[in-house]
Amino acid sequence: MQRIRSVAGLLVIMVLSIGCDSQSPEFALPDGDIANGQALFVSMNCTSCHTVRDLDLPQAETKGPVNVTLGGKVSEVKSYAQLVTAVINPSHELVKRRKPDEVSVDGESLMTIYNDTMTVSQLIDIVAFLDSRYEEFERPKIKYRTR
Ligand code: HEC
Repeated sequence: MQRIRSVAGLLVIMVLSIGCDSQSPEFALPDGDIANGQALFVSMNCTSCHTVRDLDLPQAETKGPVNVTLGGKVSEVKSYAQLVTAVINPSHELVKRRKPDEVSVDGESLMTIYNDTMTVSQLIDIVAFLDSRYEEFERPKIKYRTR
């Protein structure tokens, strides 16, 4: 009986693991709402410092100190783990295609910190929206970083 149970258990695990993306076992957000993420991107004024490639968004009333284009065929932001990091810890890794003094002061990103005002649900939707704007990622090659 014991034996049968463990074989059955193993089968369940095997079936479950077929359905999982083996690249991202440790870091996984629930599915976000892309349309809501886009609306939040505008209402939270991300557009004051960002345009999104191939997407016409309403202009922000006040322009920020710099414009950094998001989306498109770039290889720097590869996974939603990196997108989450870019939003909640922008100084962790400054965007590489710009000179540091264009986007930071003393290593600190010019990006607004939203951590005390953005809910986790809002973050999930914004990341879903941004993720949908990046192209040509060969998903199997993505190296997810979980820290
Ligand atoms: C005051 C200006 C400013 C605002 C407002 C701002 N950002 Fe940024 N953001 C930056 C700058 C500057 C960078 C590039 C430096 C860096 O990597 O932190 C950046 C980088 C990013 C990146 C990484 C881009 C890349 O290619 O690596 C993402 C993603 C991002 N911002 C998302 C957002 C979102 C989402 C919002 C709104 C919730 C937002 N930003 C609001 C200034 C801003």
